[in-house]
Amino acid sequence: MKQLLIKSLKSNFHYLYFFYSVLRIRLFFILAISVLYSFVDALSLTMFIPLFQIASGEQTSTPSESSGVFLKFFQFFNLSPTVNSVLVIMLFFFLLKAAFRYFDIFYRVIATSYFNKKIRNNLLSSLSDLKYSKFVTLNFGTIQNSVTSEILSINNAFSQYISVIQNVIFVLVYIGLSFLTNPKFTLIVIVGGWLSRFLFKSLYKSSEALSYSITSENHKLSGLVLQQVTNFKYLKSTSLMKSYLNKINTTVDTIEKDVIVLGKTSAKVMSFREPIIVIFLIIAIYIQVNVLGGTFGAIVVILLFFYRAFGSLMSVQQSWTAFLKYVGSVVHYEKFISELKSEREAQGGLPFEGFEHHIQLDAISFQYNENAKIITDVSLTIPKNKTLAFVGKSGSGKTTLVNILCGLLSPTTGEVRIDSKNMKAYSLDSFRSKIGFISQETVVFNDTLFNNITFWAPKNEANLKRFYEVIEQVDLTEFVEKSVLKEDVALGDNGVVMSGGQRQRLSIARELYKDIEILLLDEATSALDSQTEKFIQDSVDNLKGKITIIVIAHRLSTIKNADTIVLINNGSIESQGSYSELLVSSPTFSKMVALQEL
Ligand SMILES: Nc1ncnc2c1ncn2[C@@H]1O[C@H](COP(=O)(O)OP(=O)(O)OP(=O)(O)O)[C@@H](O)[C@H]1O
Ligand SMILES: [Mg+2]
Repeated sequence: MKQLLIKSLKSNFHYLYFFYSVLRIRLFFILAISVLYSFVDALSLTMFIPLFQIASGEQTSTPSESSGVFLKFFQFFNLSPTVNSVLVIMLFFFLLKAAFRYFDIFYRVIATSYFNKKIRNNLLSSLSDLKYSKFVTLNFGTIQNSVTSEILSINNAFSQYISVIQNVIFVLVYIGLSFLTNPKFTLIVIVGGWLSRFLFKSLYKSSEALSYSITSENHKLSGLVLQQVTNFKYLKSTSLMKSYLNKINTTVDTIEKDVIVLGKTSAKVMSFREPIIVIFLIIAIYIQVNVLGGTFGAIVVILLFFYRAFGSLMSVQQSWTAFLKYVGSVVHYEKFISELKSEREAQGGLPFEGFEHHIQLDAISFQYNENAKIITDVSLTIPKNKTLAFVGKSGSGKTTLVNILCGLLSPTTGEVRIDSKNMKAYSLDSFRSKIGFISQETVVFNDTLFNNITFWAPKNEANLKRFYEVIEQVDLTEFVEKSVLKEDVALGDNGVVMSGGQRQRLSIARELYKDIEILLLDEATSALDSQTEKFIQDSVDNLKGKITIIVIAHRLSTIKNADTIVLINNGSIESQGSYSELLVSSPTFSKMVALQEL
């Protein structure tokens, strides 16, 4: 019995608990204001009883069953229920009610915006703390939707849920008061109301399921559209746009079908509700008048109560139907955020302040899932301020190794050591703030050149000076000179106003601007023309000996000067040494060089 109760509480009040976990005490404020508000409203209505009794010339000094409570009220304040005193008190209650209404609406706005901010921040910070290895398995559409439209839907769900609870409170207060006024009549109406619940129950269930299905289909759609935008140029130039559109359209069709079914259910609930309630009310009034024989005053006031109670009950059902439309988003949010939280990146407590001697990989193995081992038993020492290059076939595991080195991926077995200390001891954030990362996929934010390079640093003299230094280092001076706004030139989405080479140089400038100890280059120069490549090669060479550089390169000419070259084959180190050493010792390497020199 107790378990059944707990289970039913959990399932029925699950959403309440969810909103409570976000809002805490604020939720109780909202509810308290509702209780007070409805109470004052009901009291102002009860003032109609003596008014009707006076108007109908009923004997007020011998309280009838129905008006007893209210006459006691007057006696308590030592008032006689004359038309004037009733009107004055009524006015007072209505004014008080207005004041509560004001607080109710205003506070709800405050609580809603707090709620909105809190769930968005929660989501964004959980996403930021997510392990990279988990991130790569997520659907971009889901992420995008979760932080934009889903948040709006959850907000709607919240507003509707609060409206449900408020109206439930109203119903309880009105029914409670009408029970005090006329218990028998009230019981009849309560039973009627309870019965009407069953009529709507199955409709609610199907709304809930549909809402969830629409939410997940919408995610899929966003993912598809996002990819269409990202791959626009490719799809257009290869005339594959049409088949891609067909793919998108099948998802759109599914959503459309679900929305229509959901709309039909909503329409049923909305349109049948009023006639059903009216039928119940008519039956109740009939019984009251013909069987119970109530007085004129009592019937009118009770009808006023029930008018209010039914109004609120309708709002409960209306808000509940609306809530169910959005509830899929709440379910999704809870699932998504607990998924994100369970895959949080572990961070050590030690702040990283640089290293003295070397970074070591000790018997590192890595696999994404059980079946495929990507890296097998790699041990390697990278001395401080030396340049190390990884070479090897595509898919051999070079990028994976670099990801392990910067802590994006955590090795399945073995450990990464920084000056003999396990990397896990350090705060990864502080470690990575000393890392510069340049890859083929350039990172450009839709903002000014200055902000892109300085990462929104304040625009003071020192920062500007440093900015122009790196601009010169990466040869973007001409680009800046040509633009009217100079360093404030806007780069557009993904740096659309820049050429591929310029974007690459911007990425390098950003890393140079930072005060880094380790520079990681993942085939950074392979997309560039040979002149730009040479230029970047020179700026990287300039850094040689000053910071630790780890390069992945396909073009072997770019790594001639590396201190050590590590040849990776199928996730293991095949051989290592300097360029000239490898030419002699490794047939694979000399073959690779020979092929590229052709
Ligand atoms: N998210 C992932 N899940 C499962 N396997 C992956 C994932 N990312 C990469 N792999 C696999 O790991 C292997 C190594 O990939 P990696 O990107 O390290 O290769 P690479 O040497 O950098 O290749 P390239 O020269 O083509 O960039 C590949 O076989 C790839 O299929
Ligand atoms: Mg790679």
